[in-house]
Amino acid sequence: MNVLLTGGMGYIGSHVAVVLLQAGHRVILYDNLCNSEASVLARIEQITGKTPTFIQADIRATKTLTDALKQHAVEAVMHFAGLKAVGESVEKPIEYYANNVEGTVSLLEAMRETGVRSLVFSGSATVYGEPQYLPLDEAHPLSATNPYGRTKLHIEEMLRDLSVSNPLWRIVCLRYFNPVGAHESGLIGENPVGIPNNLMPYIARVAAGELKELSVFGNDYPTPDGTGVRDYIHVMDLAEGHVAALAWLAEHPGWYAINLGTGQGYSVLDMVATFVRACGRDLPYRIVPRRAGDVAACYADPGKALRELGWRARRDLLEMCASAWKFQNRTGTGLLGSDCEGRLS
Ligand code: NAD
Ligand code: UFG
Repeated sequence: MNVLLTGGMGYIGSHVAVVLLQAGHRVILYDNLCNSEASVLARIEQITGKTPTFIQADIRATKTLTDALKQHAVEAVMHFAGLKAVGESVEKPIEYYANNVEGTVSLLEAMRETGVRSLVFSGSATVYGEPQYLPLDEAHPLSATNPYGRTKLHIEEMLRDLSVSNPLWRIVCLRYFNPVGAHESGLIGENPVGIPNNLMPYIARVAAGELKELSVFGNDYPTPDGTGVRDYIHVMDLAEGHVAALAWLAEHPGWYAINLGTGQGYSVLDMVATFVRACGRDLPYRIVPRRAGDVAACYADPGKALRELGWRARRDLLEMCASAWKFQNRTGTGLLGSDCEGRLS
Protein backbone atom coordinates (compact mmCIF):
# COMPACT_ATOMS: atom_id res chain seq x y z
CA MET A 1 0.00 0.00 0.00
CA ASN A 2 1.16 3.60 -0.58
CA VAL A 3 1.03 5.27 2.83
CA LEU A 4 1.73 8.95 3.57
CA LEU A 5 2.97 9.73 7.08
CA THR A 6 2.50 13.34 8.20
CA GLY A 7 5.14 14.02 10.84
CA GLY A 8 6.88 10.88 9.61
CA MET A 9 10.37 12.13 10.48
CA GLY A 10 9.48 12.46 14.17
CA TYR A 11 9.92 10.02 17.03
CA ILE A 12 6.90 7.78 16.51
CA GLY A 13 6.49 8.32 12.76
CA SER A 14 10.06 7.23 12.00
CA HIS A 15 9.57 3.93 13.85
CA VAL A 16 6.26 3.33 12.09
CA ALA A 17 8.00 4.06 8.76
CA VAL A 18 10.54 1.33 9.50
CA VAL A 19 7.86 -1.26 10.28
CA LEU A 20 5.77 -0.27 7.25
CA LEU A 21 8.77 -0.51 4.90
CA GLN A 22 9.72 -3.87 6.34
CA ALA A 23 6.14 -5.07 5.81
CA GLY A 24 6.45 -4.16 2.11
CA HIS A 25 4.49 -0.89 2.05
CA ARG A 26 5.59 2.19 0.12
CA VAL A 27 6.17 5.12 2.46
CA ILE A 28 5.96 8.86 1.83
CA LEU A 29 7.19 11.01 4.72
CA TYR A 30 5.66 14.49 4.85
CA ASP A 31 7.21 16.70 7.54
CA ASN A 32 8.24 20.33 7.99
CA LEU A 33 11.11 19.29 10.34
CA CYS A 34 9.96 21.70 13.05
CA ASN A 35 10.75 19.01 15.63
CA SER A 36 12.93 16.51 13.75
CA GLU A 37 16.08 16.29 11.67
CA ALA A 38 16.72 15.51 8.03
CA SER A 39 19.29 12.87 9.05
CA VAL A 40 16.43 10.59 10.18
CA LEU A 41 15.84 9.69 6.52
CA ALA A 42 19.30 8.15 6.08
CA ARG A 43 18.86 6.26 9.34
CA ILE A 44 15.56 4.76 8.17
CA GLU A 45 17.33 3.75 4.95
CA GLN A 46 20.20 2.23 6.91
CA ILE A 47 17.81 0.11 8.98
CA THR A 48 15.50 -1.03 6.19
CA GLY A 49 17.65 -0.89 3.05
CA LYS A 50 14.76 1.01 1.46
CA THR A 51 14.40 4.66 0.55
CA PRO A 52 11.16 6.36 1.52
CA THR A 53 10.08 9.48 -0.34
CA PHE A 54 10.51 12.63 1.77
CA ILE A 55 8.59 15.86 1.25
CA GLN A 56 9.61 18.78 3.45
CA ALA A 57 6.45 20.83 3.87
CA ASP A 58 3.82 21.94 6.36
CA ILE A 59 0.49 20.10 6.64
CA ARG A 60 -1.20 23.49 6.49
CA ALA A 61 0.03 23.88 2.89
CA THR A 62 -3.12 22.17 1.57
CA LYS A 63 -2.14 22.42 -2.11
CA THR A 64 1.27 20.82 -1.53
CA LEU A 65 -0.36 18.07 0.49
CA THR A 66 -3.03 17.49 -2.18
CA ASP A 67 -0.34 17.26 -4.88
CA ALA A 68 1.64 14.79 -2.75
CA LEU A 69 -1.42 12.56 -2.28
CA LYS A 70 -2.08 12.59 -6.04
CA GLN A 71 1.48 12.27 -7.24
CA HIS A 72 2.26 9.28 -5.04
CA ALA A 73 -1.13 7.57 -5.49
CA VAL A 74 -1.55 7.54 -1.72
CA GLU A 75 -4.09 5.02 -0.41
CA ALA A 76 -3.92 5.74 3.33
CA VAL A 77 -2.60 8.44 5.65
CA MET A 78 -1.08 8.13 9.11
CA HIS A 79 -1.28 11.48 10.85
CA PHE A 80 1.52 12.09 13.37
CA ALA A 81 2.28 15.77 12.65
CA GLY A 82 1.54 17.98 15.62
CA LEU A 83 2.97 19.83 18.57
CA LYS A 84 2.94 17.78 21.76
CA ALA A 85 4.43 19.60 24.77
CA VAL A 86 1.77 20.08 27.44
CA GLY A 87 3.51 23.00 29.22
CA GLU A 88 4.26 24.83 25.99
CA SER A 89 0.61 24.45 24.92
CA VAL A 90 -0.47 26.41 28.00
CA GLU A 91 1.87 29.26 27.02
CA LYS A 92 1.18 29.14 23.27
CA PRO A 93 -2.39 27.93 22.75
CA ILE A 94 -2.77 29.66 19.37
CA GLU A 95 0.24 27.80 17.97
CA TYR A 96 -1.21 24.51 19.21
CA TYR A 97 -4.68 25.07 17.75
CA ALA A 98 -3.20 26.38 14.48
CA ASN A 99 -0.76 23.52 14.08
CA ASN A 100 -2.80 20.60 15.39
CA VAL A 101 -6.42 21.50 14.63
CA GLU A 102 -6.00 23.74 11.56
CA GLY A 103 -3.31 21.36 10.27
CA THR A 104 -5.73 18.44 10.54
CA VAL A 105 -8.48 20.38 8.74
CA SER A 106 -6.02 21.04 5.93
CA LEU A 107 -5.11 17.35 5.77
CA LEU A 108 -8.77 16.33 5.66
CA GLU A 109 -9.44 18.81 2.83
CA ALA A 110 -6.56 17.34 0.84
CA MET A 111 -7.81 13.80 1.51
CA ARG A 112 -11.38 14.69 0.51
CA GLU A 113 -10.12 16.36 -2.67
CA THR A 114 -8.12 13.30 -3.69
CA GLY A 115 -10.54 10.60 -2.49
CA VAL A 116 -8.13 9.18 0.10
CA ARG A 117 -10.44 7.93 2.84
CA SER A 118 -8.30 5.84 5.21
CA LEU A 119 -6.74 7.58 8.19
CA VAL A 120 -4.83 6.41 11.25
CA PHE A 121 -4.61 9.24 13.79
CA SER A 122 -2.10 9.70 16.64
CA GLY A 123 -4.44 10.09 19.59
CA SER A 124 -3.46 10.22 23.21
CA ALA A 125 -4.56 8.84 26.55
CA THR A 126 -4.59 12.49 27.61
CA VAL A 127 -8.21 12.59 26.29
CA TYR A 128 -9.31 10.56 29.34
CA GLY A 129 -8.41 13.48 31.64
CA GLU A 130 -8.32 12.61 35.35
CA PRO A 131 -9.01 8.82 35.50
CA GLN A 132 -12.37 8.00 37.08
CA TYR A 133 -11.50 4.29 37.12
CA LEU A 134 -8.59 2.08 36.10
CA PRO A 135 -7.65 0.50 33.78
CA LEU A 136 -8.83 3.04 31.22
CA ASP A 137 -11.01 1.53 28.52
CA GLU A 138 -12.24 3.37 25.44
CA ALA A 139 -15.66 3.98 27.04
CA HIS A 140 -14.12 6.08 29.83
CA PRO A 141 -15.51 9.67 29.77
CA LEU A 142 -13.38 12.13 27.80
CA SER A 143 -12.07 15.50 28.97
CA ALA A 144 -9.01 17.65 28.60
CA THR A 145 -7.03 19.63 31.15
CA ASN A 146 -4.74 21.67 28.88
CA PRO A 147 -4.69 23.12 25.34
CA TYR A 148 -2.66 20.20 23.93
CA GLY A 149 -5.24 17.72 25.25
CA ARG A 150 -8.06 19.87 23.90
CA THR A 151 -6.53 19.81 20.40
CA LYS A 152 -6.45 16.00 20.56
CA LEU A 153 -10.05 15.90 21.76
CA HIS A 154 -11.26 18.39 19.10
CA ILE A 155 -9.53 16.39 16.38
CA GLU A 156 -11.12 13.12 17.54
CA GLU A 157 -14.56 14.79 17.52
CA MET A 158 -13.92 16.32 14.10
CA LEU A 159 -12.95 12.92 12.73
CA ARG A 160 -16.06 11.33 14.17
CA ASP A 161 -18.26 14.03 12.57
CA LEU A 162 -16.56 13.37 9.27
CA SER A 163 -17.27 9.66 9.40
CA VAL A 164 -20.94 10.40 10.12
CA SER A 165 -21.11 12.76 7.12
CA ASN A 166 -19.79 10.16 4.70
CA PRO A 167 -19.70 6.41 5.39
CA LEU A 168 -16.78 5.92 3.02
CA TRP A 169 -14.32 7.25 5.61
CA ARG A 170 -12.28 4.73 7.58
CA ILE A 171 -10.72 6.39 10.62
CA VAL A 172 -9.02 4.97 13.67
CA CYS A 173 -7.81 7.14 16.55
CA LEU A 174 -5.06 5.24 18.33
CA ARG A 175 -4.86 6.49 21.90
CA TYR A 176 -1.24 6.10 22.93
CA PHE A 177 -0.27 5.72 26.56
CA ASN A 178 3.43 6.51 27.26
CA PRO A 179 5.60 5.63 24.25
CA VAL A 180 9.28 5.17 25.18
CA GLY A 181 12.39 3.39 23.93
CA ALA A 182 13.93 3.20 20.49
CA HIS A 183 14.59 0.93 17.54
CA GLU A 184 16.99 -1.87 18.53
CA SER A 185 19.64 -0.48 16.16
CA GLY A 186 19.89 2.67 18.29
CA LEU A 187 19.76 4.68 15.05
CA ILE A 188 16.38 6.32 15.62
CA GLY A 189 14.70 7.29 18.86
CA GLU A 190 13.39 10.19 20.90
CA ASN A 191 15.73 13.16 20.89
CA PRO A 192 13.98 16.19 22.38
CA VAL A 193 15.54 19.60 21.95
CA GLY A 194 16.66 21.20 25.24
CA ILE A 195 15.82 19.81 28.66
CA PRO A 196 13.38 16.89 28.30
CA ASN A 197 9.92 17.17 29.85
CA ASN A 198 9.28 13.43 29.80
CA LEU A 199 10.68 10.87 32.17
CA MET A 200 12.54 8.44 29.89
CA PRO A 201 14.62 10.95 27.87
CA TYR A 202 15.39 12.80 31.11
CA ILE A 203 16.66 9.61 32.77
CA ALA A 204 18.74 8.75 29.69
CA ARG A 205 20.49 12.11 29.87
CA VAL A 206 21.15 11.78 33.59
CA ALA A 207 22.65 8.33 32.99
CA ALA A 208 24.84 9.81 30.23
CA GLY A 209 26.05 12.54 32.60
CA GLU A 210 24.47 15.34 30.58
CA LEU A 211 22.07 16.21 33.40
CA LYS A 212 22.97 16.08 37.07
CA GLU A 213 20.05 14.27 38.64
CA LEU A 214 16.46 13.28 38.06
CA SER A 215 13.75 15.16 39.94
CA VAL A 216 11.08 12.66 40.95
CA PHE A 217 7.84 14.61 41.02
CA GLY A 218 6.21 13.51 44.27
CA ASN A 219 6.37 10.34 46.39
CA ASP A 220 3.09 10.83 48.20
CA TYR A 221 0.68 9.52 45.57
CA PRO A 222 -1.68 6.66 46.50
CA THR A 223 0.49 4.18 44.54
CA PRO A 224 2.61 1.25 45.83
CA ASP A 225 5.81 3.33 46.24
CA GLY A 226 4.18 6.77 46.25
CA THR A 227 5.51 7.85 42.83
CA GLY A 228 3.43 8.30 39.66
CA VAL A 229 2.41 5.18 37.75
CA ARG A 230 2.19 5.08 33.93
CA ASP A 231 1.69 2.58 31.14
CA TYR A 232 5.02 2.75 29.29
CA ILE A 233 4.88 1.15 25.86
CA HIS A 234 7.86 0.31 23.64
CA VAL A 235 7.76 2.48 20.53
CA MET A 236 8.33 -0.60 18.33
CA ASP A 237 5.24 -2.27 19.81
CA LEU A 238 3.37 0.95 19.16
CA ALA A 239 4.65 0.99 15.57
CA GLU A 240 3.49 -2.58 15.01
CA GLY A 241 0.07 -1.57 16.34
CA HIS A 242 -0.17 1.01 13.54
CA VAL A 243 0.53 -1.55 10.86
CA ALA A 244 -2.10 -3.86 12.38
CA ALA A 245 -4.57 -0.94 12.44
CA LEU A 246 -3.91 -0.15 8.78
CA ALA A 247 -4.72 -3.71 7.71
CA TRP A 248 -7.79 -3.81 9.95
CA LEU A 249 -9.16 -0.51 8.51
CA ALA A 250 -9.46 -2.12 5.09
CA GLU A 251 -12.40 -4.14 6.48
CA HIS A 252 -13.80 -1.48 8.80
CA PRO A 253 -15.41 1.70 7.47
CA GLY A 254 -16.41 4.21 10.18
CA TRP A 255 -14.74 5.85 13.18
CA TYR A 256 -12.99 3.98 15.97
CA ALA A 257 -10.90 4.73 19.04
CA ILE A 258 -8.46 2.09 20.24
CA ASN A 259 -6.01 2.21 23.16
CA LEU A 260 -2.38 1.30 22.52
CA GLY A 261 -0.87 0.43 25.88
CA THR A 262 0.46 -2.62 27.70
CA GLY A 263 -2.11 -2.69 30.51
CA GLN A 264 0.73 -2.69 33.02
CA GLY A 265 1.58 0.33 35.19
CA TYR A 266 5.10 1.09 36.41
CA SER A 267 6.17 3.78 38.87
CA VAL A 268 8.88 6.39 38.41
CA LEU A 269 11.10 4.42 40.81
CA ASP A 270 10.45 1.18 38.86
CA MET A 271 11.64 3.01 35.77
CA VAL A 272 14.76 4.31 37.54
CA ALA A 273 15.65 0.82 38.86
CA THR A 274 15.16 -0.79 35.45
CA PHE A 275 17.23 1.86 33.70
CA VAL A 276 20.05 1.28 36.18
CA ARG A 277 19.96 -2.41 35.20
CA ALA A 278 20.03 -1.51 31.51
CA CYS A 279 22.91 0.95 31.66
CA GLY A 280 24.95 -0.41 34.56
CA ARG A 281 25.43 3.04 36.08
CA ASP A 282 24.16 4.94 39.07
CA LEU A 283 21.23 7.21 38.48
CA PRO A 284 21.11 10.06 40.98
CA TYR A 285 17.62 11.27 41.81
CA ARG A 286 15.90 13.52 44.31
CA ILE A 287 12.28 13.60 45.45
CA VAL A 288 10.72 17.00 44.78
CA PRO A 289 7.10 18.24 45.06
CA ARG A 290 4.44 16.97 42.64
CA ARG A 291 4.28 18.46 39.14
CA ALA A 292 1.08 20.46 38.56
CA GLY A 293 -1.46 18.59 36.46
CA ASP A 294 0.00 15.09 37.00
CA VAL A 295 -2.31 12.21 37.93
CA ALA A 296 -1.34 9.44 40.35
CA ALA A 297 -1.81 6.55 37.96
CA CYS A 298 -2.79 6.01 34.35
CA TYR A 299 -2.81 2.70 32.50
CA ALA A 300 -4.75 1.11 29.69
CA ASP A 301 -7.20 -1.65 29.25
CA PRO A 302 -5.62 -2.91 25.99
CA GLY A 303 -8.35 -5.53 25.40
CA LYS A 304 -9.97 -3.80 22.42
CA ALA A 305 -6.68 -3.67 20.51
CA LEU A 306 -6.27 -7.41 21.00
CA ARG A 307 -9.88 -8.23 20.08
CA GLU A 308 -10.07 -5.94 17.07
CA LEU A 309 -6.53 -5.67 15.72
CA GLY A 310 -5.09 -8.92 17.04
CA TRP A 311 -2.27 -6.79 18.47
CA ARG A 312 -0.70 -6.67 21.89
CA ALA A 313 2.51 -5.19 23.28
CA ARG A 314 5.31 -7.75 23.69
CA ARG A 315 8.42 -5.88 24.82
CA ASP A 316 9.15 -5.39 28.54
CA LEU A 317 10.41 -2.44 30.55
CA LEU A 318 14.04 -3.62 30.37
CA GLU A 319 13.91 -3.63 26.56
CA MET A 320 12.40 -0.15 26.64
CA CYS A 321 15.22 1.14 28.87
CA ALA A 322 18.02 -0.72 27.08
CA SER A 323 16.96 0.56 23.66
CA ALA A 324 16.61 4.14 24.95
CA TRP A 325 20.11 3.87 26.43
CA LYS A 326 21.55 2.52 23.20
CA PHE A 327 20.00 5.42 21.29
CA GLN A 328 21.31 7.89 23.86
CA ASN A 329 24.82 6.53 23.36
CA ARG A 330 24.65 6.75 19.59
CA THR A 331 23.34 10.30 19.52
CA GLY A 332 24.35 11.82 22.84
CA THR A 333 27.72 12.27 24.40
CA GLY A 334 29.39 9.56 22.32
CA LEU A 335 29.65 6.86 24.95
CA LEU A 336 29.43 4.16 22.29
CA GLY A 337 30.15 0.59 23.21
CA SER A 338 28.46 0.55 26.61
CA ASP A 339 27.23 -2.74 27.99
CA CYS A 340 23.64 -2.21 26.84
CA GLU A 341 24.55 -3.51 23.37
CA GLY A 342 24.68 -7.07 24.68
CA ARG A 343 21.36 -6.79 26.45
CA LEU A 344 19.53 -5.97 23.24
CA SER A 345 20.91 -8.76 21.11
P1 NAD B 1 7.53 14.40 17.28
O1 NAD B 1 7.54 15.84 17.59
O2 NAD B 1 8.80 13.62 17.42
O3 NAD B 1 6.99 14.17 15.79
C1 NAD B 1 6.05 15.02 15.19
C2 NAD B 1 6.58 15.37 13.80
O4 NAD B 1 5.63 16.23 13.17
C3 NAD B 1 7.90 16.12 13.84
O5 NAD B 1 8.82 15.49 12.96
C4 NAD B 1 7.56 17.53 13.37
O6 NAD B 1 8.62 18.12 12.64
C5 NAD B 1 6.32 17.27 12.52
N1 NAD B 1 5.38 18.38 12.43
C6 NAD B 1 4.83 19.09 13.44
N2 NAD B 1 4.00 20.02 12.96
C7 NAD B 1 4.01 19.90 11.61
C8 NAD B 1 3.33 20.56 10.55
N3 NAD B 1 2.51 21.59 10.79
N4 NAD B 1 3.56 20.17 9.28
C9 NAD B 1 4.41 19.14 9.02
N5 NAD B 1 5.07 18.48 9.98
C10 NAD B 1 4.87 18.85 11.27
O7 NAD B 1 6.37 13.73 18.15
P2 NAD B 1 6.01 12.20 18.38
O8 NAD B 1 6.33 11.84 19.77
O9 NAD B 1 6.52 11.38 17.26
O10 NAD B 1 4.43 12.29 18.30
C11 NAD B 1 3.70 12.03 17.12
C12 NAD B 1 2.23 12.20 17.39
O11 NAD B 1 1.85 11.34 18.45
C13 NAD B 1 1.85 13.61 17.83
O12 NAD B 1 0.64 13.96 17.20
C14 NAD B 1 1.66 13.48 19.33
O13 NAD B 1 0.74 14.41 19.82
C15 NAD B 1 1.15 12.06 19.45
N6 NAD B 1 1.41 11.48 20.76
C16 NAD B 1 2.69 11.38 21.22
C17 NAD B 1 2.93 10.88 22.49
C18 NAD B 1 4.34 10.77 23.02
O14 NAD B 1 4.49 10.59 24.23
N7 NAD B 1 5.38 10.86 22.19
C19 NAD B 1 1.86 10.44 23.30
C20 NAD B 1 0.57 10.53 22.80
C21 NAD B 1 0.35 11.05 21.52
N1 UFG C 1 8.32 12.45 36.00
C1 UFG C 1 9.25 12.72 36.99
N2 UFG C 1 10.33 13.48 36.66
C2 UFG C 1 10.53 13.99 35.41
C3 UFG C 1 9.56 13.71 34.41
C4 UFG C 1 8.46 12.96 34.74
O1 UFG C 1 9.10 12.28 38.13
O2 UFG C 1 11.51 14.69 35.17
C5 UFG C 1 7.16 11.59 36.33
C6 UFG C 1 5.82 12.27 36.17
O3 UFG C 1 5.45 12.95 37.33
C7 UFG C 1 4.92 11.07 35.83
C8 UFG C 1 5.84 10.12 35.06
O4 UFG C 1 7.17 10.52 35.41
O5 UFG C 1 4.52 10.43 37.03
C9 UFG C 1 5.68 10.20 33.55
O6 UFG C 1 5.80 11.56 33.13
P1 UFG C 1 5.97 11.96 31.60
O7 UFG C 1 6.15 13.43 31.55
O8 UFG C 1 7.01 11.11 30.96
O9 UFG C 1 4.59 11.50 30.94
P2 UFG C 1 3.09 11.93 31.30
O10 UFG C 1 2.35 10.69 31.69
O11 UFG C 1 3.03 13.06 32.23
O12 UFG C 1 2.55 12.46 29.88
C10 UFG C 1 2.76 11.77 28.65
C11 UFG C 1 2.80 12.80 27.52
C12 UFG C 1 1.46 13.46 27.39
C13 UFG C 1 0.39 12.42 27.19
C14 UFG C 1 0.43 11.39 28.30
C15 UFG C 1 -0.55 10.27 28.06
O13 UFG C 1 3.79 13.76 27.79
O14 UFG C 1 1.47 14.29 26.26
O15 UFG C 1 1.75 10.84 28.42
O16 UFG C 1 -0.31 9.70 26.81
F1 UFG C 1 -0.80 13.01 27.18
